Amino acid sequence: MKVTVTVNGEPVTADVEDRMLLVHYVRDVAGLTATNIGCDTTSCGSCTVLLDGESVKSCTILAAQADGSEVVTVEGLAGADGELHPMQSAFRAEHGLQCGFCTPGMVMAAVSLLRENPAPTEEQVRCGLEGNLCRCTGYHNIVRAVLAAAGAGPVDSGPVEPGPVESGPVESGPVEAGTGVAR
Ligand code: FES
Ligand code: FES
Repeated sequence: MKVTVTVNGEPVTADVEDRMLLVHYVRDVAGLTATNIGCDTTSCGSCTVLLDGESVKSCTILAAQADGSEVVTVEGLAGADGELHPMQSAFRAEHGLQCGFCTPGMVMAAVSLLRENPAPTEEQVRCGLEGNLCRCTGYHNIVRAVLAAAGAGPVDSGPVEPGPVESGPVESGPVEAGTGVAR
């Protein structure tokens, strides 16, 4: 079937199989491979994109379901001049990544979180990102990054330097086995 999805502001039209997932459309049709596939079973969040402004796991949606919609991937966050989005700057400044596999999805989920709640508490950040797994960071620096980005102001206002975060380490408990809840 013929599908048109606007990806990062550019309409992308293709004849695709009915069963094609949105994540495959983004990666294989639009050619934007920063969005990763970690599980294909709605578990890891590495495929998170914005669909009409809402964060979704793009392995859970058919490309056909996104026909006529707008998708933003992590490649679409930076400014036209390449200046990083505040969330990307915050992840870099706070060392919110190690191997980077989860990072595109984590950043998109975090952007969505701050759009819904521009000034979250640490607990709200941890709950808001519970659908996104990271096997490297222990979540501490990811949470710090999101709080730093929140301190930088509205996330839609364009790239700015992140604000300061608490000087002490962010306290947190163990990650719940099997859930990825960043506690
Ligand atoms: S690849 Fe989509 S949730 Fe893991
Ligand atoms: S930085 Fe490696 S999985 Fe998150």
